[in-house]
Amino acid sequence: MTNQTVRGTKDLLFDEWYKFKYVQQVASKISNLYGFAPVETPIFEYTEVFTKTLGDGSDIITKEMYTFDDKGGKSITLRPEFTAAIVRMLVEKKLQTPLKLFSTGPLFRYERPQRGRQRQFHQINFEVFGIESPKADIELISLAQHLLTEFDMGNSVKLEINSLGDGETISQYREALVLYFKKYQNDLSEDSQNRLIKNPLRILDSKDERDRAIISDAPKISDYYTKESSNFFEQILNRLTALGVPYTVNNKLVRGLDYYCHTVFEFITENLGAQGAIFAGGRYDNLVSSVGGKHTPAIGFAGGIERIMELINYAPEETRPIYLIPIGEKAEEYATTLANELRRSGLHINYEYSGALKNRMKKANQANAKIALIFGDEELGSNVIKVKNMDTGEEKTVACDKVKTLVQAL
Ligand code: HAM
Repeated sequence: MTNQTVRGTKDLLFDEWYKFKYVQQVASKISNLYGFAPVETPIFEYTEVFTKTLGDGSDIITKEMYTFDDKGGKSITLRPEFTAAIVRMLVEKKLQTPLKLFSTGPLFRYERPQRGRQRQFHQINFEVFGIESPKADIELISLAQHLLTEFDMGNSVKLEINSLGDGETISQYREALVLYFKKYQNDLSEDSQNRLIKNPLRILDSKDERDRAIISDAPKISDYYTKESSNFFEQILNRLTALGVPYTVNNKLVRGLDYYCHTVFEFITENLGAQGAIFAGGRYDNLVSSVGGKHTPAIGFAGGIERIMELINYAPEETRPIYLIPIGEKAEEYATTLANELRRSGLHINYEYSGALKNRMKKANQANAKIALIFGDEELGSNVIKVKNMDTGEEKTVACDKVKTLVQAL
């Protein structure tokens, strides 16, 4: 096992590394257009930051956290998501709201690895604090839609949206679901039987065939909306329609974390097998106050970078090197000086540390060099260098002190 990555983790090499950074850069650029400020929280937190917020019945809390005692005996957890950590930061630092925060980085969940699902994965994450109005929901969903167009995956990804309503809606709906599912208790999957006690809403998420049949006739949340809840949801849907943002209302979308209320949404694709959610999030108006902060309405979403990477085409722009071809002892020495000087003026310079002219030219060709700078002890004696255009084969002899200006202009 010594020479293996841990199951569910990945190395990031070469072009994939560039693609990863590209996703982060695009997200950061878009976040800036919408007035988000960048923040970074530590990769681990005291365990309660998550246990007190994500919900006892959530998959993350019941089975997915990387939790350990540190050497001082404190229980520590590698962050499984950003939201709880950012709420901790907001309360600890007493940040003034309204406030929009953007973050990106690694998260850790002990899930069964499969396509689009890792144990160390990465998100781009957006949170808006302090805005009660549905305008925040609309703006955030527009931002997600904007990201899709920027990544050029607008057509393959669809927005599903639902409202969980306010506290009254959720508690009445939960009761109605428990009553309904209890009638079928013995027919439900084992997971759903457990959820019936801990988190009945999550049964609606089940992919199990037996559960699906029972779920299709379950009570609908929309029948339990208070007037305010349905009014709030309607405003969002109307505005999305007016903005031309396509969506489907999915009454069974509940999300796996306990902190949500009102709007929940997922941007889903069918092109990634079972792990179709690219962006996912929702409103969590009561989370900040539940951990001791002021009442702060909030909404956010996160996108999985690995999933986005699977769906986009991106090739890093290739910069063609200038190859130095020194021949002879003095030339070898001069190559280090010249390389230093040219690199410090922003040029991509490469060269071999040894070898005959023919081999060095071969390497320059393999590296797709744009130009070769060829110099032997003889040329250096006359203070000149041969500049070869590798595409046309054309060669020029140039004074050493003019080389920099010449290659910079090419
Ligand atoms: P989540 O649905 O758990 O929500 O994750 C959001 C996104 O992260 C998913 O839609 C998916 O793209 C990606 N993701 C999740 N787990 C994995 C995994 N194991 N491997 C690869 N990608 C994964 C949250 O994390 C909430 N904190 C989102 C939020 C922000 N809600 C409000 N604000």
